This record gives sequence, structure tokens and C-alpha cells, in this order.
Amino acid sequence: MRSATLILAELALILFTLTFTRAYNNGVGRAPPMGWNSWNLFACDINEQLIIETIDAMDSKLKKFGYQYVNIDDCWSLKSNRDPVTNEMIPDPVRFPRGIKFLADYAHSKGLKLGIYSDVGDKTCQGYPGSANHYEIDAKTFAKWEVDYLKLDWCFVDDAIKAEPWKYYGRMSARIKQYWSSHLLLNLQLVGLGVSKPHEWAPKIANSWRTTGDINSSWKSVLEILDLNKPLWKYSGPYAFNDPDMLEVEVDRPPNKLTIDESRTHFTLWCMLNSPLLLGNDIRRLDDQDRKWAKDIITNEEVIAVSQDPFVKQAQLLYETKVGTFNQSGACTSSNCTWIEVWMKPLQKTQTIAVAVYNRAGLNIKDPKFKAESANIIWKSLGLEEDLKLSVRDLWAHSDKGSFQKEYTTDKIAPHDVRLYSMSGSGWNRK
Ligand code: GLA
Repeated sequence: MRSATLILAELALILFTLTFTRAYNNGVGRAPPMGWNSWNLFACDINEQLIIETIDAMDSKLKKFGYQYVNIDDCWSLKSNRDPVTNEMIPDPVRFPRGIKFLADYAHSKGLKLGIYSDVGDKTCQGYPGSANHYEIDAKTFAKWEVDYLKLDWCFVDDAIKAEPWKYYGRMSARIKQYWSSHLLLNLQLVGLGVSKPHEWAPKIANSWRTTGDINSSWKSVLEILDLNKPLWKYSGPYAFNDPDMLEVEVDRPPNKLTIDESRTHFTLWCMLNSPLLLGNDIRRLDDQDRKWAKDIITNEEVIAVSQDPFVKQAQLLYETKVGTFNQSGACTSSNCTWIEVWMKPLQKTQTIAVAVYNRAGLNIKDPKFKAESANIIWKSLGLEEDLKLSVRDLWAHSDKGSFQKEYTTDKIAPHDVRLYSMSGSGWNRK
């Protein structure tokens, strides 16, 4: 007979597992949120007009593809002080004359959602009032304004917050649940993966959590962030997402700008990573002739479906083909080099997976040592039986490639470009 102590220990273990594996489910955001955020392109240069026009643009051009959130980032409030009577934050009266509630109502009238930004510390990263010591009043205010998303940053945090970030983020999260439980998505910013490991505790108190430093619109930045998110796939699932930062597709912030191929790869990988899909570009100009390529990327429904797949799994890097010698920064030091990565994301439909293959090459796209390459997607390396027949569909090209056994060989992929396939067949079970 098992002892009472043993049974108690087992019960404790079950309780622990339940507590620590349950994501923060406040009824919204089962799949990664899709929308736009003001920071990557506009930084502090934001105002009511921009937000209204962006809501209009999202309504007419992007809503039908699933984009919903228009998120105002830093710099929206009065910098100097809170309301001396109510202690509430005050929307900047010059740039946001009709306030945040007005914009939330406007977004809601179009069937869209509005996001706002604050900081768990004393001040925001740009020095505007933060929420420290004001979690209660700020949660109430955001609830009163009926905002739908809160990005809670990590600047000007004191030693106490630094020592126990989960406690302070947890307090704000609890206040939000209390006042606005069924609506608000909570996104934590915690720069410093490895220092505080937000993925280990944030899933219990928030919908998503930043895993790295700030992105910029360079290939180097995209790869660095991708690499840091590689091992974190197991922390992502329904209502809970690693946040590798916002999208840089067609965000022109000199000296950086992703090429069209790099943008397609960045978007594909963020869909594979279960990342929030928050656009950073000027979506008011999406129909301009010279931006058509960007619209084609961010509105590809078959690719978006991989991000929004109801199974809600983050992709894993399954294998890479790395030939030649490289130095520490990834430059090729032999006469020729190849560097290709193959990522896999299980999809809800049984016996279907998404496979992304990209030609990582070197940092410099013009480096002649790297070439366009075709890659072999090998069943065995995907963990599947060799004799399985899989139908392969190219999701960027919207074309069926046919049915294959053992392996599928891609067409030639240019340096920094990508292919994304769905692969399905019968006779196998997902592991
Ligand atoms: C931090 C965040 C960015 C942005 C800025 C605003 O750097 O990581 O995404 O919100 O603050 O100041």
C-alpha cells in the first residue's frame, strides 16, 4: 500500500504541474494577436490623427485578413505629471485632444481594438510616467477607457522590481484581471533573456512576454532574435506566446531596411514562432504601387493561417545544413559556404505540418560565397517514416507540388529568402 506521504507528494506534484503549465487565459487571444504598433516606424511622433487614419486603414485593408489591434506605444501621455486630483495618467492634450477612450470607441465602432502602453517601473523608456506605485489606478483607468491590449515595459525599474519582476508584473496583472478581465491582452516587456527568464513565469500572468532586446530592420537583428527564441518553443501555446518583438516588414529606419526576400523570411518565421504579428510599417500607404510587395507579404492568407493555426504550437528548428567554415559573426571563411535551416510547426489538422526552409547564408546578402540553393526536406529528419506519402503545398506560391515519399527537394532559394510548405498525408501520427 502506498503511504499517505507518497500520495500527498503525488498530489502536490499534480497541483504544481497544473499551476505551472496553465497559461493566463482571460478569454481573449487564444492564437497570437495580429495588429499594428506605432513604435517601430513612428517612435514618439504620434498623435490622434495618425491613430485614426491607421484604424481606418486597418479597417479597409487589413481587418479581413485577421488584423485587429491598433496599439499606441510610448509617448502618448502628458510627460510632466499625472492628474493632481485623480492621479490618473493624462493623455497628451495637444497630441491626443480627445483622449484614449475616444480612440478606443472609434476602434470598436469599426470592429477593431485599441492597445496602450505603460511601464512596470517609475517611467517609460522615453521618460513618461510609468505605472510603479500606481498599478491600481492605472488598471482602473485603462479599464475605464476600454482599451484592449496593454504593453507593459521594463524601464526605470528599481532594485526591488528587478529582483522579483514576477511579483510586480503579477500585481498589475491581478489588478487588470480584477477590473478588465475579459478583454485585455497583457504583453510584458522583459529585456534580458537569461537574466530573469520571463518564459518560466510570465505564462501564468500574461498573454505574451518579450524574450529579447529591441528588434531593428536589419537581417542581423532578425537572426539574433530568431536564435534566442529557438529553445523557447515549449513555453508557447494557447493564450501564451514568446514575443520576439514587432514586425519590421517595410519599416524604413535608416541605416536599416530589410529587402523584400528578408521581409518575407522574417514574416514567415514570426508566423512559425507563434509570435504576436504586430506590423510596424505605415499601413495608411499600403496601396501605394511601390509598397505592393509588402501588402502581398502581410496579407498572404495561407501563411497567416500558419500563425493562427488552432493547435497553437511554436515551431522548432529541426535541422540545418551548414557547409564550409564560418567565423563567429557568421561570415564564410572557406571558398564557398551553405547555411540552410529547416523549421517545423505542427498544425491542428491531423497529419499536417508546416515546414519553413530558408537560406540563412551570410549577413551580407551580396557575399558571393553564398549561392541560391535547393534544400532537401527529409522525412526521417522530420521524425516521419520514410515510406509515407506526403502532399506538399507551397504556401507563398499557392501551388500544390504533388505527392512525395522519403524527401522533397525545393527549388533554388536565394540567399535570405524562404519557402513555406504545408505537408500532409495519411498513415502517421503526430509525435
Ligand atoms: C522599449 C521597447 C520598445 C518600445 C520602446 C518605447 O525599448 O522594447 O518596443 O516600446 O521601449 O520607448
